[in-house]
Amino acid sequence: MTNTARTSQRPAARPFLKWAGGKGRLLAQYAPLFPREIGDYHEPFLGSGAVFFRLCQRIEGRAYLSDRIDDLVRTFEMVRADVESVIRHLGRHVYESDHYYRVRAQNPACLSPPGLAARFIFLNRTGFNGLYRVNKSGRFNVPFGRYTNPKICDANGLRLASAALALAQIERRGFQELPGWAEAGDFVYLDPPYQPLSKTSNFTAYTAGGFDEDAQRSLAGVCHALDGAGVRFMLSNSDTPLIRKLYKGFDIKRVLAARAINSSAAGRGKISELVVRNYT
Ligand SMILES: C[S@@+](CC[C@H](N)C(=O)[O-])C[C@H]1O[C@@H](n2cnc3c(N)ncnc32)[C@H](O)[C@@H]1O
Repeated sequence: MTNTARTSQRPAARPFLKWAGGKGRLLAQYAPLFPREIGDYHEPFLGSGAVFFRLCQRIEGRAYLSDRIDDLVRTFEMVRADVESVIRHLGRHVYESDHYYRVRAQNPACLSPPGLAARFIFLNRTGFNGLYRVNKSGRFNVPFGRYTNPKICDANGLRLASAALALAQIERRGFQELPGWAEAGDFVYLDPPYQPLSKTSNFTAYTAGGFDEDAQRSLAGVCHALDGAGVRFMLSNSDTPLIRKLYKGFDIKRVLAARAINSSAAGRGKISELVVRNYT
């Protein structure tokens, strides 16, 4: 079977999680910026995997997906490996505040793998704004969210996601390990926590420890190493002087995104973000 035949048989799938900074709404602007041909694909800041799911029908090789949130990685892995068990476990959850707080209080380490995945998906779909936040001891602490009839188990969506993930290897890894994995000709899409636009923005707090200026610098070092090794990369980040400086010399495009915070009328509307690439 040719690669083209294999890829065209893959189903179109969509993210099964909501994720802060998820790229769903930017995909139309990104479409012309992706490479025409994709062999092996890497996405080291996975989140909900919006870009992976968009590209999965075009990936000719393997996909290497990673993130540093352990439970997120285990959830993806379980959806890939045994989606029917995840669906069965999701069927035990209900949209109800007491149930939410009982499930939130569970220790994920004491759950079966499909139970852990179902808990992660349930908390994501019914917690406040689909946020992922943990306290100092690493326990999930997002409050119950108010929705009208939220869909806890989208069985068909999960089955499609599972089929798309069949080509993926999913690992818990920091982005620093990327140069050891990616090879010449591979394509890497990087969507790190953005550099904050102001000192009061706190969107770097995805995990305890956040993603500070040193992390942005070290990520730029990784991108330069990828470039030196002949790996193609595309990176999303905020439009700040630091990001423009760190990636000077690469192709930098502006895209327009909806603002993450609409705390005041003046804050509404579009905001400029950057896409950096080492290929055109
Ligand atoms: C902006 S989100 C990615 C969103 C994703 N592109 C989507 O569409 O849903 C950034 C992700 O990077 C992960 N992350 C943060 N620091 C990391 C690190 N040092 N190494 C790997 N992943 C990290 C976070 O857990 C989070 O899932």
